[in-house]
Amino acid sequence: MRFTVAIDGPAAAGKGTISRVLAQRFGFAHLDTGLLYRAVGRRVMAGEDALVAARSLTAADLAGPGLRDPEVAQAASRVAVIPEVRAALVDFQRAFARSEGGAVLDGRDIGTVICPGAEVKLFVTASAEVRARRRFDEERVAGHEVSFDAVLDDVRSRDARDMNRADAPLRPAEDAIVIDTSEMSVDEAVAEAVRLVEARR
Ligand code: CDP
Repeated sequence: MRFTVAIDGPAAAGKGTISRVLAQRFGFAHLDTGLLYRAVGRRVMAGEDALVAARSLTAADLAGPGLRDPEVAQAASRVAVIPEVRAALVDFQRAFARSEGGAVLDGRDIGTVICPGAEVKLFVTASAEVRARRRFDEERVAGHEVSFDAVLDDVRSRDARDMNRADAPLRPAEDAIVIDTSEMSVDEAVAEAVRLVEARR
């Protein structure tokens, strides 16, 4: 069975949480495509050329320390504007999307560029303040000393870069269903996503 769920949206919108629950519930493989860009960004921070890094990513690049750090997120969004970097990551993502048993991919351009034929397309969003608050709480739980203002700045600057780039800008696909989670609990957002997937299966 091939079945692709594409989940896009701005920084810290809750795409990861929703994707993980859908994967577990329906037995789909899950790819957090942000990790690919973060891995390239981390290698650029270590002095490598972005395109060389994008063309030689391995599974080991998708693990290890620091991948979730805000500095790496910023580096990711800077390499993500380079069309050749994006192109180098397309085949892997498309092959993953056709995983036997179904797949859920979350990112910025899954419904628009990577999987325009996905069976389900969701665009998960919330106000910048709500998203920054959630990311701030996560960081604190993980024991990181961060200020709310720094998290809000990170979210806003990445959103601006992601939405305004020429290649694969962040935007909902025309046929995506928008879930605005500003006023929703995590459980409510997840339940809505489960309902939408069930309706298409
Ligand atoms: O988890 P969070 O929403 O904060 O970020 P992420 O999904 O890990 O993505 C990090 C950065 O990678 C984003 O700000 C984008 O610039 C870039 N990205 C992208 O351009 N296209 C994707 N499909 C996924 C991420």
